[in-house]
Amino acid sequence: MSCERTFVMLKPGTLERRLVGRILERLENCCLKIIALKLMRIPRDLAEEHYAEHRGKDFYPPLIDYITSSPVIVMVIEGENSIAKVRKIAGATNPMEALPGTIRGDFALTTKKNVIHASDSLESAQREINLFFKEEELIDYEVPNEKWIR
Ligand code: GTP
Ligand code: MG
Repeated sequence: MSCERTFVMLKPGTLERRLVGRILERLENCCLKIIALKLMRIPRDLAEEHYAEHRGKDFYPPLIDYITSSPVIVMVIEGENSIAKVRKIAGATNPMEALPGTIRGDFALTTKKNVIHASDSLESAQREINLFFKEEELIDYEVPNEKWIR
C-alpha cells in the first residue's frame, strides 16, 4: 500500500444535474483527502491534451465536445492506494456495466456522459495533476482520522 495522489474530474453532467455533493460525499467516505479542488471551464487544447491517448478514436471528438461543453470540477485526491480506490468507486466506463453502488453505476446514463474521470495509473495521475494544477495549488494538511487508516 502506498499514499498516492490521483486526479479526478467531475464532468459537465455532474454540475448540471446537481450531483456534486453526492459524489464528493462518496469520495470523502472512503478516507480519501481532497488536497486541491477547483471549478473551471476546460479550454479545448487542454481537453485534447488530457485525453491525448484517445486521439484518432471515433469517440474522441464528441468526448472533447462534452468535457468542454460546460464547467467541470477538478481535484487532486490523496490517500492509500487512491488511484485504484477511486477507479473502483467510479465504476466501469460503460454505466451499463458499472455495478450499483459505484458512482457511474448509480449516476451515469451513457458511456459518453459518464459523470466522472479518474486517473488510471501512477503515470497518468502525475501527468494529469501537472496539466491542471500548479504545485502551490496542492495543499497538505492533517485529518483527524489519519492515525486510524495507516
Ligand atoms: P475516463 O476516466 O474519463 O478516462 O474514463 P475511463 O478511463 O473509464 O475510459 P477511457 O479512458 O477508455 O475513455 C475515456 C472516455 O471516453 C470515457 O470516460 C468515455 O466518456 C469515453 N469513451 C470511452 N470508450 C467509449 C466508447 O466506446 N464510446 C463512446 N461514445 N465513448 C467512449
Ligand atoms: Mg481513462
